[in-house]
Amino acid sequence: MKKNKISKNWINKQRRDIYVRKSKIEGYRSRAVYKLEEINNKFKFLKNGLSVVDLGAAPGSWSQFMSKNYKNMKILAIDLKKIDKIDNIFQLKGDFTEKDNQKKIKEYFNDKVDLVVSDMAANTSGNKNLDSIVTGELCLQALEFTKNIIKKDGQFVSKLFMGTTFNEIVKYSKEIFEEINIFKPPASRKDSKENFLVCKKLR
Ligand SMILES: C[S@@+](CC[C@H](N)C(=O)[O-])C[C@H]1O[C@@H](n2cnc3c(N)ncnc32)[C@H](O)[C@@H]1O
Repeated sequence: MKKNKISKNWINKQRRDIYVRKSKIEGYRSRAVYKLEEINNKFKFLKNGLSVVDLGAAPGSWSQFMSKNYKNMKILAIDLKKIDKIDNIFQLKGDFTEKDNQKKIKEYFNDKVDLVVSDMAANTSGNKNLDSIVTGELCLQALEFTKNIIKKDGQFVSKLFMGTTFNEIVKYSKEIFEEINIFKPPASRKDSKENFLVCKKLR
């Protein structure tokens, strides 16, 4: 399919999408917010007072949702892209996989955190298999980082694509956490390989 035809299809899809319309009415920067809301409705990991790292946070709807609906959360949001200011959120621009940025995250909390959420995704290349591998690698790196920064009863929620590395990532997450769930929220598009990994309690 030609590039301008793909983008026209994308624009039409966005116009028809109820989640896009709802996000505009409710003042959220992305329809992705409803994925977080639906995952949380099922697994109930968001609570007042938690310390939270939001990986791949731009444009910022997950952080907006947490800061709007929960009191006294300490939230750090990081993304390769600049995130427009959100009240009560500490924002970092940079690659989360870089040691220097991981050090900044640890220094900000100066303690273990309760929750790491990751909606990180690589730029779409048009090749769904390649995209799932690259996004899977980001999920692995997020797991690796999380196991050193969260509390014993902490939780990890991450985007993960169905694909060749899916089973390997789920297996690795089971080595780190006691409880693992895989969930595709209704707001995740049917034609996407996207799923979410929800992990509880460090081993
Ligand atoms: C689907 S968007 C996240 C949407 C966000 N949850 C929201 O609600 O607005 C995925 C983000 O992951 C970011 N990302 C990808 N690789 C990253 C990395 N290595 N470090 C930090 N952010 C990354 C991208 O820049 C992109 O903004």
